[in-house]
Amino acid sequence: MCSRRRWLAALTTPLWPCPAAPARPLAYLDLPASAGSIARDLGLSPSSWPSYIASQNATLATRITAGTAEAITYYALQSSRFTLLPPLEPLALARRAILSPDAAVEARLAAFTASLSQSLGTRHALLVDLHRQLPPSWSLAACYRHTLHFLSERLNQAKEQSELDALYQRRGLSSDTATANTATLDATWPHLPPTLRNALLIGPGLDLTRREKFSDDAPLAQPQVDRLLALLGPNTRLDCLDVRPEVLAFLRQSKRCAIAADITTQIPAVATYDLAVATNVLVYCDDRSLFTALACLAISLKPSGYLVHNDSRFAAKLFGKALDLPVVHFAPVSLGGRHAVEQMDRIVIHRRPVGPK
Ligand SMILES: C[S@@+](CC[C@H](N)C(=O)[O-])C[C@H]1O[C@@H](n2cnc3c(N)ncnc32)[C@H](O)[C@@H]1O
Repeated sequence: MCSRRRWLAALTTPLWPCPAAPARPLAYLDLPASAGSIARDLGLSPSSWPSYIASQNATLATRITAGTAEAITYYALQSSRFTLLPPLEPLALARRAILSPDAAVEARLAAFTASLSQSLGTRHALLVDLHRQLPPSWSLAACYRHTLHFLSERLNQAKEQSELDALYQRRGLSSDTATANTATLDATWPHLPPTLRNALLIGPGLDLTRREKFSDDAPLAQPQVDRLLALLGPNTRLDCLDVRPEVLAFLRQSKRCAIAADITTQIPAVATYDLAVATNVLVYCDDRSLFTALACLAISLKPSGYLVHNDSRFAAKLFGKALDLPVVHFAPVSLGGRHAVEQMDRIVIHRRPVGPK
């Protein structure tokens, strides 16, 4: 019993303690005077602030539920952990316009339901937990219909980059990540000083499910966490921040500091970090929430601290300047080849001024 308690304690104790104070909400008064006119252009004022925060909270909750529905659908259709039924690829179903469950889909959804009380490994346990957190109106059939609707919209309607961006800004919040994304971190490193004591990774993600070619054998991975730890070395503390429940659960199981906060409305800690990394997170924000996310990040960084992301919008440069977090470096990065086509990303580095203005 005693050793079980010790084991449980080890599982929930982070390797580095999280900041003592919880994340606090961003207030309108936190915005520097230099950002006032941009805030007004974006419709933000002391009087509209409460409704902005309320709508952000509501949108985030909806997008988390939608992302959960998508992850469960991808797993229920493809995993071999709980059934011998052949896998069904969600993208292929979308191409065939099977937007409501047919007999083959229903059989897989039923097999997943029958497995909910079984112990079938960490990935299955995380998905069962996600399923428990779904509101009652989200049956598995509803999850399927939502997911196929998104995939079919992605396949059929979104052709222009701006349409795609808009689709991804309102879609379910996914925790998708990929090892190739760590190339962005490697490309950033020569531009950072060697002494970074405290770092914050926003949105580490977790390779939990995929919409195609899913395999139960793929390890549950957080490639950005692993690469950042290697780059930072043993003497730097790394805090991770996310909103998705499975990402936070996995971080805690790995004994990492996991801060549950929305970076668009909450400040994880004031003047604490030498480095904040937010790749493939800000790109899913609309202009207004990009502005408030940069405000939260500016407050979280120490003087002379760095923010790294991959959002190439001009707005990031404009907002950074107004929020006392100007861009100091911008460059394209190759993520290597996929289907014989070179995948490109970019790095955007902002830096807080060395001292107060
Ligand atoms: C697409 S994944 C990117 C994973 C990883 N950063 C990468 O580049 O491979 C986005 C991650 O950011 C998290 N995220 C999205 N919006 C967020 C927000 N407003 N606040 C905190 N985390 C957020 C998601 O839950 C998810 O873990």
